[in-house]
Amino acid sequence: MNLIFTGPPGAGKGTIASRISEELKIPHISTGDLFRKAIKEKTPLGLRVESILASGELVPDDVTCGIVEERLKLKDAVDGFILDGFPRTIVQAEALSGITRIDGVVNFLVEDQLIIRRLSGRRICRNCGAGYHVDFMPPKKEGICDVCGGELYTRPDDAIEAIQNRLEVYRVQTSPLIDYYRRKDLIIDVDGSPDAASVTTDVLKLLTRLQAHR
Ligand code: AP5
Ligand code: MG
Repeated sequence: MNLIFTGPPGAGKGTIASRISEELKIPHISTGDLFRKAIKEKTPLGLRVESILASGELVPDDVTCGIVEERLKLKDAVDGFILDGFPRTIVQAEALSGITRIDGVVNFLVEDQLIIRRLSGRRICRNCGAGYHVDFMPPKKEGICDVCGGELYTRPDDAIEAIQNRLEVYRVQTSPLIDYYRRKDLIIDVDGSPDAASVTTDVLKLLTRLQAHR
């Protein structure tokens, strides 16, 4: 299945995508993760986008679309994929429609108040990228990754001013995609506010139904 996970920052797209990706054995492709990897490795792309990510603004469409097009050519994406955080503008959605077919767009619904709580408590492993939350998904040992023992850090764009900006950018530039994909009958709405295990179960049920109707 070729899937898109959309929704505001902190809706749980990355957390749920990594679980569903394991379950369905299809790759989880997050443009945010690809940019953060480039920043960590100080590649020309990373140097170009570092300040954009820190502010919560969007990377230009041509740069983002080029990266996704290259990633989708890799062998592991032939039998399906989860795009997390892409597309984020109508221009990106139009570009994507010229590259591949999309079977469903999972739209995670979460209120702003919970989003702010989730993002301000998020911690990421500097080494392997695993995600945690100080209250909702704490690591066994504070500040240390359960998976690899790496150091946990707070994303620069999880500072409160950047969170507010990301919510505004989402409202203005990304949320019009919901109507865009609803008109194509591809939207699958999911309540993203319960705990991660419940949301994962709900998404899997909805995807099983989608597969049965294809
Ligand atoms: P990106 O990395 O995509 O960030 P985002 O969309 O702001 O989304 P987040 O990763 O913050 O939220 P999420 O929904 O994945 O939530 P998560 O699962 O982590 O993009 C970063 C930046 O890159 C953008 O601002 C932009 O600059 C650039 N960029 C990326 N894509 C682009 C594009 N297409 N075009 C242009 N620019 C682009 O969960 C959040 C927290 O909550 C975690 O701590 C988690 O543990 C916790 N949590 C999650 N789910 C639950 C749950 N169900 N219950 C309890 N806690 C939960
Ligand atoms: Mg994410």
